[in-house]
Amino acid sequence: MALLISVSEFWEDEKVWRQWVQTELPEMDVRVYPDDGDVNEIKYVATWKHPHGILKQYPNLKAILSLGAGVDHILSDPDLPEDLPIVRLVDPKLTHEMCFHALHWVLHFHSDHFLYMKQQMDKKWKQQGSIQPEDRTVGIMGLGNIGRGIGDSIVNQGFKVLGWGANQKSSLGDIQYFFGDEQLGDFLEKTDILINVLPLTEGTTNILRKQELQRLPRGAFIINMGRGGIVNETDLLTLLEEGHITAAAMDVFEEEPLSVNSPLWSHPSVYITPHIAGQSNPQSSAKTIAANIRRIEDGKLPFPIYNITKGY
Ligand code: GLV
Repeated sequence: MALLISVSEFWEDEKVWRQWVQTELPEMDVRVYPDDGDVNEIKYVATWKHPHGILKQYPNLKAILSLGAGVDHILSDPDLPEDLPIVRLVDPKLTHEMCFHALHWVLHFHSDHFLYMKQQMDKKWKQQGSIQPEDRTVGIMGLGNIGRGIGDSIVNQGFKVLGWGANQKSSLGDIQYFFGDEQLGDFLEKTDILINVLPLTEGTTNILRKQELQRLPRGAFIINMGRGGIVNETDLLTLLEEGHITAAAMDVFEEEPLSVNSPLWSHPSVYITPHIAGQSNPQSSAKTIAANIRRIEDGKLPFPIYNITKGY
């Protein structure tokens, strides 16, 4: 029985992934694409952005496991084999790293560090007054495991935290929750710093266009660490130019890698990172992947499995 790993060229070395997955699954023959050997032996593929079309070469595939939290990179393969379970990665280290990334930018914006960076360029000594965290509202779009973790870590710093998601949820502790299209405007109007961690689905694609972003109070900040296709980049640039949005920290983009021709690169109020907000940790992810494979081998369902109705 073999498991095939396929990761994008921009990721951690695939040999490192192989080593950790092999450690967790000693009984498995762990291979790295394109060295797939006998294709009939491949029962599992663990992937981050595999070359589209390859999955249909494996006739005995039992499941496809994402090496990232999202599965949009798998679903976008036009030659995806049908009726196979697609397993998302829920990994505590990835969630923790996402919390760090969110907190970093919330504090950068909240504590005026974006202004002090500009002042330093001008050799300008000016103390900005400080705003208390309880007077600043952070709104999180996407309140799954990652969004909830981020929300709790921001609540712990004393900020007001709101959440928005497509569906109703029960208790979310100190996070006030909004849901559905009807409540999106209300949520945005109350949000000073917007964090997006929504998965990319049919329902979330381009959900933040000019008309929605304009509902944010003037001077708002955006942290996009979910998926690029959710925030319309042209509309975002327009609102940055108009001063309606003060600054944006962008980790994900409509097209990745971000084209060298994108005006986002050189915009003075845009902070760019190359999709690193939550990097999957090979050692810890390998444990989660191994546990899911054991579940499947024992006739149980892996967790969490992609749900076609929800779209993630
Ligand atoms: C990264 O974007 C992931 O889906 O884990």
